[in-house]
Amino acid sequence: MSETPRPADLIVFGGTGDLSMRKLLPALYHCDRDDRLAPETRIITMSRGGLDDADFRGKVDAEVRGYVPADDHATWQRFLGRLHHVSIDVGGQDTEGWSRTARLLAGHEERDRIFYLASPPMTFGPFCRELHRAGLVTPASRVVLEKPLGRDLASAQRINDEVGAIFDERQIYRIDHYLGKETVQNLLVLRFANAFLEPIWNSLWIDHVQITAAETVGTPGRRGYYDHAGALRDMVQNHLLQLLCLVAMEPPSRNDRESIRDEKVKVLQSLRPIVGGEVDRFTVRGQYTAGECDGVRVPGYLDEPDSTAPTEASRRVETFAAIRAEVKNWRWAGVPFYLRTGKRMPYRSTEIVVQFKDVPHSIFPGSAPNRLVLRLQPSEGIRLHLMAKEPGAGEVALKPVPLSLSFAETFTSRVPEAYERLLMDVLAGNPTLFMRRDEVEAAWRWIDPILHEWEAQGAAPEPYPAGSPGPAGAHELVLRSGRYWYEDDLA
Ligand SMILES: NC(=O)c1ccc[n+]([C@@H]2O[C@H](COP(=O)([O-])OP(=O)(O)OC[C@H]3O[C@@H](n4cnc5c(N)ncnc54)[C@H](OP(=O)(O)O)[C@@H]3O)[C@@H](O)[C@H]2O)c1
Repeated sequence: MSETPRPADLIVFGGTGDLSMRKLLPALYHCDRDDRLAPETRIITMSRGGLDDADFRGKVDAEVRGYVPADDHATWQRFLGRLHHVSIDVGGQDTEGWSRTARLLAGHEERDRIFYLASPPMTFGPFCRELHRAGLVTPASRVVLEKPLGRDLASAQRINDEVGAIFDERQIYRIDHYLGKETVQNLLVLRFANAFLEPIWNSLWIDHVQITAAETVGTPGRRGYYDHAGALRDMVQNHLLQLLCLVAMEPPSRNDRESIRDEKVKVLQSLRPIVGGEVDRFTVRGQYTAGECDGVRVPGYLDEPDSTAPTEASRRVETFAAIRAEVKNWRWAGVPFYLRTGKRMPYRSTEIVVQFKDVPHSIFPGSAPNRLVLRLQPSEGIRLHLMAKEPGAGEVALKPVPLSLSFAETFTSRVPEAYERLLMDVLAGNPTLFMRRDEVEAAWRWIDPILHEWEAQGAAPEPYPAGSPGPAGAHELVLRSGRYWYEDDLA
């Protein structure tokens, strides 16, 4: 049974934003509903909008209600009662907002105090400085930083320096919500709590690994953000590289806060740099054009409805990226790790495919190599594709059959959202599933030369029609070594 939760003050900076409304507040409600928040715990949100407690509770009642089960009126009222709102303009010489925050927090210095920065990254430094000036950082304080942490190595280092000037590294929780997903936890359990897999988890037995994060959505109304982000910064630098680390890392000696993160950093440091002329050989970038997605005709990236017209940055930004990565160590020498992510793909799916080598000598016609598929979304599950004999007399006929573990079907308990798990870890002071500074910076160090080369070339990304699995170059990237992408393997 889990420990009794400790009272805490959770301050969400950016509490009226999309992330808070769609993810954080629903996750906190679920935690409350499962009695994982102490009765005294408060949620104090901040934004510039001039709202007071009553306005904000009304907004949550109207907007968040749709994301949570409607079955429990009393718990919903209890949850609304935990909410407080401070109107504040961070970076704007606002003293009244900080005074009100100080009044709310006064007398509760002994409580865990969590500052969750669900706001644009350029506000992280000013927020921490003003918070410090207001005298609100206590020894029991922690700060959670949302991604993206910067847009290259230099800006990530600057943010880390600014936040690090106020908080110790042990107080800083850099979130990548993929790490809170059940399948990701299960990948570690599968690898390190079962004896059969680890001896074959290497270049002798594994042919290659594919990590795909495909979305059907485009970017309507998000040009301002996406033009300056792109798929490489938005998805590969954080989510896909984190998944690669968990597949490739060595067994940690303990399941504690540093051991797993130490092993992940070693993987990032072992990634073979892709520089200069190699960027064209090992990476592909694309941008969607008009097409049909989910049975609906949709516009191309440049024609998405938006309040601003497309610019040169819009023409150059990638909505699709694929990379052939290599981990240069004894375990993985010669095993390609193919990473791929895109918008307006034919399906919404995030999965890791571990393709084993074929049997050394086949005595049956029609055999195919084994494949382990770990799916993170839409439904989480694990599937191992094995060869089996088709029932019947006569010639032995083989058929690939899956051994499946669907969490929803196998476990009757609700599969928690990644943010629930991660918020509970922050409240419990457990940083294992959060990224350390050296991890984030090692990831940027590998990504930076690719970004620089793409920017130096200045060429437009390769077009691909919405609803297709990316540009032709992505297909060629794997075909060059006689391989092909698995499309939506668990569908
Ligand atoms: N949305 C997602 O699904 C998602 C997923 C992963 C990561 N993230 C990251 O999470 C962060 C927030 O994303 P979002 O989509 O929620 O953004 P958003 O909808 O634009 O919300 C930003 C929030 O920050 C507040 N804010 C901004 N500047 C402020 C200032 N100077 N003083 C006080 N409040 C300020 C905004 O309120 P006012 O404008 O009213 O002040 C709003 O509450 C970003 O770093 C984003 O990259 C978002």
